[in-house]
Amino acid sequence: LYKACVFGNPVSQSKSPFIHEEFAKQFDIKFAYSKASPEIEAFTSAANEFLADPDVLGANITVPFKEQAYQYVDELSPHAQRAGAVNTFVKRDERIIGDNTDGIGLIQDLLRNKVKLKGARVLLIGAGGAAKGALPALIDAQVASVHIYNRTVERARDLLLNLSEDGDCQLSVYEDEENFDLIINATSLSLQEKVPSLPDFIYGESVVCYDMVYLNKPTSFLRHAKKAGCKVCIDGLGMLVGQAAQSFYLWFGKMPDVEPVLVKLRKALQ
Ligand code: ATR
Repeated sequence: LYKACVFGNPVSQSKSPFIHEEFAKQFDIKFAYSKASPEIEAFTSAANEFLADPDVLGANITVPFKEQAYQYVDELSPHAQRAGAVNTFVKRDERIIGDNTDGIGLIQDLLRNKVKLKGARVLLIGAGGAAKGALPALIDAQVASVHIYNRTVERARDLLLNLSEDGDCQLSVYEDEENFDLIINATSLSLQEKVPSLPDFIYGESVVCYDMVYLNKPTSFLRHAKKAGCKVCIDGLGMLVGQAAQSFYLWFGKMPDVEPVLVKLRKALQ
């Protein structure tokens, strides 16, 4: 029996146990994936205790523990380093490696939806943890440019300062540019039924809009983009399954099929 869990607070809403059980079934693997919800200051002791079990392969880490997880690990993968956050622990020879699969999950989902990334002009909305994870992954996917829009402009600037090494992709803070190919909402605004303060003309017919949030109905951001003319609107459920698939791969060396799990999850949401 293999074990893993997701650390979060709150964590009751997490779909990760369902997703990983489905993945494990695909390979006939016995995998017990649980939820752990320690108090904020008890994260380290909870992680120590869980990871001490020899059956445990690792864990996922979600809000609000991703920065603590970054500090906790013995070693960081390049992805975790660049994202500044850890969402996956992998146990290797009694050492804990911190990785980050969020960015890959996003890219996989965009590609699954046939979104062309190479050479794309991207508007990234937000400058928190979610945007931080997305930015290096977009650069690796060879987009032409990323403009960052954030309510607090200084945070957008800080995000770019930390990534100044990335050669070919043009990175800048959004001013009043237009003609984007892809607009990604990396804020949690849709959870409050709000939309970012941006002009409607950016949501052209040929623009793809992606909201990292998912709900049991189209999110406020996607509804707004559609009303303003945008034809392709995608929510973050596929990214959730995609990042889980990448974590599963890190633990078992096997890449699960995302599609059937996504279909089941979408059905269960309705
Ligand atoms: P996460 O790790 O989920 O990205 P975060 O670090 O708190 O969470 O970042 C949340 C993002 O949503 C930020 O970009 C934040 O903008 P600020 O940097 O200006 O705070 C954005 N956000 C949250 N609530 C918002 C609101 N009401 N209006 C505009 N932006 C908001």
